[in-house]
Amino acid sequence: MDVFETMHTQKAMRRLKPDPVPDELIWKILDAAICAPNGSNMQPWNFLVVRDPELKLRLQELYTQGIATVTRRSGRAVDESMGRSVGYLIQHLAEAPVLILATVKLEDVASVTPPGACIYPALQNLMLAARALGLGTTLTTAHRGVEDKVKALFGIPEGIETMALIPLGWPLGRFGPPPRRPAAEVAYWDDWERTRPRD
Ligand SMILES: Cc1cc2nc3c(=O)[nH]c(=O)nc-3n(C[C@H](O)[C@H](O)[C@H](O)COP(=O)(O)O)c2cc1C
Repeated sequence: MDVFETMHTQKAMRRLKPDPVPDELIWKILDAAICAPNGSNMQPWNFLVVRDPELKLRLQELYTQGIATVTRRSGRAVDESMGRSVGYLIQHLAEAPVLILATVKLEDVASVTPPGACIYPALQNLMLAARALGLGTTLTTAHRGVEDKVKALFGIPEGIETMALIPLGWPLGRFGPPPRRPAAEVAYWDDWERTRPRD
């Protein structure tokens, strides 16, 4: 699949079939992830691939608690436009055949670098690779509202931060263009707020 087509049809796919994803495809996706740029090539990442049904259920419970914590802290309800889809994931996360918990080892991240900068490029690679294979993903971070409990579940040691939880599986819905403000609106040319019409 052409890389531009992949990017232009990659969106959050929260509704996934429970059908298994072959190991071979999981490896292919992980191989794409680890090609990503990262600070000083320290590769501070790990990818915890969770397929065990009990662990996935426990993660779903913690994800739900995380959403509650995050929304309580922000004082906002889950965004109305995403409400149903986000709500679906809360109730069905464990049905995804694979959950990937992405982590960063903090001591391997330079002090000027936000830890996320060393993992999110890899996760974008991961999600684009999945898309190219017809697999859906959603980058989620709500579990961080109860991160200590998530770390305890897997025995993740001090100094390792969990950066995202990504459900992976065959989509129930269709891929399509993600709704975004146009580039001509968000790109400034040579000066702040100087936009330029497209030819
Ligand atoms: C840093 C980050 C955190 C996110 N956390 C969550 C989350 O906890 N739960 C969720 O359902 N989606 C989460 N998302 C997905 C966003 O809601 C989604 O990318 C955005 O709404 C655009 O959706 P679209 O690509 O389908 O248009 C997160 C995305 C990013 C980049």
